[in-house]
Amino acid sequence: MGLICFASQKGSPGVTLTALAVAAALPVAEGRRKVLLEADADSGSLAVRYQLGRQPGLITLAAASRHGLGREDIWAHAQALPGGLAAIVAPERADRASSVLATSGKALASWLSSLPGVDVIVDCGRLSPASPALPFAHHADAVFMVSRPVAEQIQPAAERALALQGAGRRVAWVLIGEHPYSAADVAEATGIRVAAVLPDDPRSAEALLGGGTTGRLRRSPLLRAATSFAAQMQSLEPAQAPADPNIRARQAEVVA
Ligand SMILES: Nc1ncnc2c1ncn2[C@@H]1O[C@H](COP(=O)(O)OP(=O)(O)OP(=O)(O)O)[C@@H](O)[C@H]1O
Ligand SMILES: [Mg+2]
Repeated sequence: MGLICFASQKGSPGVTLTALAVAAALPVAEGRRKVLLEADADSGSLAVRYQLGRQPGLITLAAASRHGLGREDIWAHAQALPGGLAAIVAPERADRASSVLATSGKALASWLSSLPGVDVIVDCGRLSPASPALPFAHHADAVFMVSRPVAEQIQPAAERALALQGAGRRVAWVLIGEHPYSAADVAEATGIRVAAVLPDDPRSAEALLGGGTTGRLRRSPLLRAATSFAAQMQSLEPAQAPADPNIRARQAEVVA
């Protein structure tokens, strides 16, 4: 583990929910800690959802980074979500979120990727080619593109995924549901591995985003799928070059 990014390219497929569910379920090895970082340039949603203070968070972490950060400093900028997960929240105003990421994203991404003993799960939001959250993806040990398996989300997300793969990142899909396309359809059409399919389960999704932590919610198919994905994450294999020459050619075009 290390630095893991979740992102989309178009629509609101469920990046925040997925990052939150996986981070909450992620097993942490002895002596390590985990933190969820909201790095969505279109605005944060955790502080509003959970009625947290706007600070500490990404703004205070970015400000502190200008004077140099020590390895324990991250915890002063995290708040506890319902259930206890430590989270660094982004400002809910898009102008503030994008400007703090534009100013400090690169330095923070580089620092976090080499922070010993900490697993960082990043919600990158929509990762357009101009997104100031891109440095997190470029420093990530793995990037998961979250998408509904519909052409209008898969196509643009596949371009971003191939570009990141071409830049040497491990990239895989996390699909929300399997309609109209199955995981096998998506993997074959894009040449990108599907790491997980989370059930399309609006009720559990809303309960979780609403701060629910009941045993019933934890036993829901959505949370069980997120938990089994989180458990596999430790042994994630490197992304493989696609066998299909057409996909390789497209990959080269996208990267160029
Ligand atoms: N697995 C899921 N099944 C059903 N509904 C889901 C699932 N995940 C998320 N949702 C729903 O989709 C909506 C968007 O979720 P979320 O905020 O996580 O998406 P997002 O991709 O982070 O969006 P944004 O780009 O606006 O930040 C919410 O209403 C949420 O309840
Ligand atoms: Mg989001």
